[in-house]
Amino acid sequence: MKGLFIVFEGVDGGGKSTQMKMLSDFFKRKGYEVEQHMEPTHETIGTVLWDYMNSKNRSFEPETEALLFAADRIEHGKNIRKALEERKIVISDRYKHSSLAYQGAAGADVDWMQSLNKHALVPDLVILLDIDPEKSLGRVSDREKTVFEENEYLKKVRAEYLRYAELGELVVVDAVQSIEEVHADILKHVDKLA
Ligand code: TMP
Repeated sequence: MKGLFIVFEGVDGGGKSTQMKMLSDFFKRKGYEVEQHMEPTHETIGTVLWDYMNSKNRSFEPETEALLFAADRIEHGKNIRKALEERKIVISDRYKHSSLAYQGAAGADVDWMQSLNKHALVPDLVILLDIDPEKSLGRVSDREKTVFEENEYLKKVRAEYLRYAELGELVVVDAVQSIEEVHADILKHVDKLA
């Protein structure tokens, strides 16, 4: 099998980390080499973004945010390509649809963001772990909450994600099931890639 690029998307508290780990273990048991990535990254531009999001003050315009996330993504792309060339499986916590959904919900122009992200890779599978933010926010501790974790805003983010799901760009998995049920649903989508 060639390398595979799988992305997890969704609002926080939908169980992304748990499911990414379970999927990674699934592939490792089958003998594949797996890399777990995330955006923002922990590289130079990603670190600026983490500092910003943890500052509790959303002072940037959505366009500034989109530019920084897109720049981080371009640098991230080099690491993804390298891993795929080595036939590894890359599982990323967030990618392009996070910008389309989060910065889109904040008012950034979607066509402009699409062109900024023109060179982003097209993942083999984008999984949306879908959950109502009213439920998901309760799962995120105050300490972990970033400047983006606010109920009304996250409802808009969710609506944006679902729009891209309707366009067939990502598959929706109901995150309000047991951990095992969510994992089983994810494997059904992964099976279709083979
Ligand atoms: P998380 O990975 O812990 O969910 O935190 C990442 C935060 O970054 C999350 O609130 C969504 C936000 N984000 C964007 O707004 N746009 C992006 O393009 C990316 C990658 C993340």
